[in-house]
Amino acid sequence: MSTIPGYTFGSESLAPSPVSRDYLARLEAAVLWTQDDADALRRAGEVLGPQADRILDVWYGFVGGHDFLIASFAGADGTANPDYLTAVRARFAQWIVDTCSRERDQQWLDYQHEIALRHTAAKKNLTDGVSSTASEIHLRYIIAFIVPLTVTIRPFLAGQGADDEVEAMYQAWFKSVTLTAALWAEPYSPSW
Ligand code: HEM
Repeated sequence: MSTIPGYTFGSESLAPSPVSRDYLARLEAAVLWTQDDADALRRAGEVLGPQADRILDVWYGFVGGHDFLIASFAGADGTANPDYLTAVRARFAQWIVDTCSRERDQQWLDYQHEIALRHTAAKKNLTDGVSSTASEIHLRYIIAFIVPLTVTIRPFLAGQGADDEVEAMYQAWFKSVTLTAALWAEPYSPSW
């Protein structure tokens, strides 16, 4: 088991995802997922994994630049809680690697469900034992984050292969983040 606090991928205590493998396959089809994307995403993981810390600097800089986003990491006094930010950051870095390298099997689906719940009122703040003024992340921002989590990745892929290889990695990452946001919408939406 990993030593990252709160990272419970593969744990038997996780609830099974309500999303079936069939529905996952349909979502993959809906984002135009192909075997070429799967290959390109693996290569992207080799490029992005070692740069995860710098990628997180960019993403945390973006979140920190908007009051309505950084408010999600508030402690009981309403100001950003550095321990909470640090704890989540380690799991976020692992997510970059997992997104690119893990099979999308039942274990993976179950952890997607768990992370989705950690953004909702059902489980936010519990993993890190935080007392926060923010009880949930709104679904609209999960969807909107497809853009920053995608476009900020391009500079980290640039120069890591021929132009068409970089484009393939970028497209695969974009599809993968979109798939993730669509999956994580499940606990928010009665008509998912
Ligand atoms: C596609 C969109 C998003 C992705 C891919 C993403 C990714 C992640 C990941 C990987 C984690 C840690 C998961 C774990 O515990 O293993 C996390 C947690 C968290 N994210 Fe997001 N996130 C997204 C949207 C957002 C937005 C819009 C906000 C608002 C600023 C946000 C705030 C948080 C917070 C506060 C936590 C900690 C939740 C807890 O208390 O456990 N996330 N996110």
